[in-house]
Amino acid sequence: MGDVEILKELAGIAACRFIKDGMALGLGTGSTVRYSIIEIARLISEEGMDLIGVPTSEDTRSLSEELGIPLLKIEDAGTLDLTIDGADEFDCNFDLIKGGGGALTREKIVALKSKSMVVVADYTKKVEVLGAFDLPVEVDSDLWEAVREDISRICPGQVNLRMKGSKPFETDNQGFILDCRFGPTISDPKSLEIAISDTPGVIEVGLFVGICDAVIMASNDGIEELIKSEGRI
Ligand code: A5P
Repeated sequence: MGDVEILKELAGIAACRFIKDGMALGLGTGSTVRYSIIEIARLISEEGMDLIGVPTSEDTRSLSEELGIPLLKIEDAGTLDLTIDGADEFDCNFDLIKGGGGALTREKIVALKSKSMVVVADYTKKVEVLGAFDLPVEVDSDLWEAVREDISRICPGQVNLRMKGSKPFETDNQGFILDCRFGPTISDPKSLEIAISDTPGVIEVGLFVGICDAVIMASNDGIEELIKSEGRI
């Protein structure tokens, strides 16, 4: 395991201390939260916890099923107690860029259904200003060219259609992803989220503003629990 992989594992497992018996959990997507999901399976099988999860992607669904975590569909889940998920970037206001894995729409639905959200990350995800990571925007696959033109008026850099080999990358909802190069300029993420969401053909924007309550961040100095002071945890 490389150094960053070990940090992801440490953060993923450490976040599970917020889990209590009987909880309904949002299960995020990505290489860091994968370790939380493995730990959740252990809490069920070895510690006898009664937990149920709502997966945010087909990848997370198959991993959770393999590990024996009982699952609910998004549409059948009411309010969830806690979502644990990764992020591509987070800033000091606990605002996030997500969607590097393309699961942003279901991730946002699940996070918004949750009483609280904990992000698991290694220290490389912490930024002063969001945007060095290209902002993922999920769009209608038939309209992506028109949407790209519209977003290009707002975005100072390139707006690229995400590819998988020679074909466009397709999300679990059959959408496409536009990766928008803002650079580290997103100082007002809420306004930008609204501006992009207002563009016809946009399904969801990978900005998560005011949703995250805590970040469990692993670095070579150990685990840091960053808790939002006016948050829900
Ligand atoms: C999935 O679409 C993303 O939002 C991920 O949660 C995010 O990219 C973080 O993934 P890693 O933990 O793999 O970096």
